[in-house]
Amino acid sequence: MKKVITYGTFDLLHYGHLRLLERAKELGDYLIVGVTSDDFDKQRGKINVKQPLMERLQNVKETGLADEIIIEEYEGQKIDDIIKYGVDVFVLGSDWVGKFDYLKEYCEVIYLPRTEGVSSTELRNNDRKLKLGLVGEDIYLKKIYNESFYVNGIKVTAICSNEFDESDDTFKDIEIKTNDFDKLLDNVDALYLISNPKNHYDQIKKALLKHKSVLCESPITLDEKECKELFLLANKNKCVLMESIKTAYSTAYLRLLLLLKSGVIGNIVSVESTCTSLKDYMYFQKKDLNVEFNSICAWGPTAMLPIFQILGTNYKSLSIKSLFIDKEKKFDAFSKIDFLFDNAVGSVKVAKGIKSEGELIVSGTKGYLIVPSPWWITDYFEVRYENQNNNKRYFYQLEGEGFRHELVEFVKRVKQQYKNTNISEEVSLNIAKVMHEFYSDNVSEIQNSYKN
Ligand code: CTP
Repeated sequence: MKKVITYGTFDLLHYGHLRLLERAKELGDYLIVGVTSDDFDKQRGKINVKQPLMERLQNVKETGLADEIIIEEYEGQKIDDIIKYGVDVFVLGSDWVGKFDYLKEYCEVIYLPRTEGVSSTELRNNDRKLKLGLVGEDIYLKKIYNESFYVNGIKVTAICSNEFDESDDTFKDIEIKTNDFDKLLDNVDALYLISNPKNHYDQIKKALLKHKSVLCESPITLDEKECKELFLLANKNKCVLMESIKTAYSTAYLRLLLLLKSGVIGNIVSVESTCTSLKDYMYFQKKDLNVEFNSICAWGPTAMLPIFQILGTNYKSLSIKSLFIDKEKKFDAFSKIDFLFDNAVGSVKVAKGIKSEGELIVSGTKGYLIVPSPWWITDYFEVRYENQNNNKRYFYQLEGEGFRHELVEFVKRVKQQYKNTNISEEVSLNIAKVMHEFYSDNVSEIQNSYKN
């Protein structure tokens, strides 16, 4: 019996897929189809796949062409499969010509001409594209704009910023470049906001009243009540209001949350997270101590995320200690926030202008979990025990910048495919609550003369 094998994502199964499977089948007596797992696709940068694995498997099954369906889960699996299933012919479309010639050592390799004029990418793009507006500081928006090209189903149509770098042509294809927020709102379906957090409340409210969804760089507001009001308004107007913290979309971070829930380190007693940087501070110092990017705003939300997601938001008390570099106590070069829970403690260290080890450590009754620096762009962590032989390492490749993953989720939510979110409203409200504490002067001052 001549066995043939082929692989693919088979998202939104189309005529091109069918033609390929039919021709592959004709090359032998038995056809094995490998369908990529969701994780494997993410790892290799296919972040826009619409249908989950089970639906894609079902669609391939319903073609009636596959004698056997397997799941492709890791790089290099093709060699394993060919040996394991005794495969005679490996088949793929002509978009892969040459890429799998190394398999000729194990079986015959055939590339079939790809069917013209149809692809999953095209089908995903067929829906009306969401018109996205970007609002904020020019230097950040460029990065965001470049990331947006990796996301199917959106198009950046307008940009609102107080200053544009005229010497740079990154935004040359954008029709509307303005400093008028209302003009931007009238020309988009949704917006991404990375403006001064002091302005978030007014800007988000305006947007939601015009039924525009908002992805807002954290913190959403500097006050819990305002944040709550905005979530209620979003709900009422059937819009999405989503907090942007890239870490929440990294596979490694999501997996470590699940692992901790399963009890690998026993009862959790402490979560400590540190996020610090120096260079942005220098930049914004030139801009007269712009409060927007002090330590608590720039790093606080990211650092608090694991505290609230691991220990919950029901803390009994909190205390904030800060080192300020200005008399008005607006720019904290360093802040330490301590949370007391019934059965645990959480501790956050954030700094713009003071440097420390940027790690995340979760301590439990059986062992501890450590994410090495910089933990917030994490693809790796370890679970360690008293007996080192039991230690385990975990690695999850994160392709590209976290932002594109976040944008994919935002678009899915706006298009109302599902209500899932990686950062709950509860967590966002509590981030805003801590911000409020800070700006209400409930802070103990660390007396130290700051020398940069
Ligand atoms: N294929 C084909 N003709 C097409 C599209 C796909 O012959 N028009 C083949 C591919 O070459 C591959 C298999 O079908 O061997 C599975 O392809 P897959 O990557 O799942 O589909 P695409 O439509 O190419 O997906 P995407 O646009 O996401 O890359």
